[in-house]
Amino acid sequence: MNVQEKQKCRAARKAVEQVRSGMVIGLGTGSTTGWALKRIAERLNSNEIKEVFGVPSSLDTAAKAAQLGIPLTDLDRHPLLDLTIDGADEVDSALNLIKGGGGALLREKVLAQASRRNVIIVDDSKLSSHLGCRHSLPIEVTMFARSSIERYLVALGAEIHVRESGPGKLFQTDQNNLIIDTDFGPILDPRNLAAKLSDRAGIVAHGLFINLADEVIVGEEKRVRHLHRST
Ligand code: A5P
Repeated sequence: MNVQEKQKCRAARKAVEQVRSGMVIGLGTGSTTGWALKRIAERLNSNEIKEVFGVPSSLDTAAKAAQLGIPLTDLDRHPLLDLTIDGADEVDSALNLIKGGGGALLREKVLAQASRRNVIIVDDSKLSSHLGCRHSLPIEVTMFARSSIERYLVALGAEIHVRESGPGKLFQTDQNNLIIDTDFGPILDPRNLAAKLSDRAGIVAHGLFINLADEVIVGEEKRVRHLHRST
């Protein structure tokens, strides 16, 4: 396992210590969350925890969790989650996030907003002084609005790239929408940009997660570091 994977695994295992019997857990998407899924399954299989149910944030996570034997439920049955564990693409010093590298930003944000508590797990390459320095900002857009939204994003100052899943093949989200990856440079006022993106019809979701992470667990070479959001 390479150093980055070890860091992800370490952060994930630490986060899963917070899972208690009887909890309903939001399950994020991505490679770091993959380690958390494995650890939840281990703890369930050893009876260390019981009656834990997961709500997956993507079809991919649903398939992985089912394969590991993690019991699944949905927001209709459990509209309030005890805890969500998820990864991130970039984390700033206020614990605002860029998410959506895997394209699951809409459902991830729904789970984060439905959750009592959000724990984000990352390796230390994800930390950044300003969002936008290390990762593009993914924006989920309805097909119908594509060209109009492209113009809008360029007018806001972004360089844009419509995500593809292969040569000439557009990436489709679990909702059959597009992802436009945007480069705004360092995002000095994420709240302001988030408001401009949320206001525009045709943008289904954007990857700015403002004030949603309660805690970020950073896997480092030999330890984990806990960062807590100051409210
Ligand atoms: C999925 O849409 C993303 O928000 C992921 O949580 C994010 O890309 C982190 O993924 P990794 O854990 O694979 O880095």
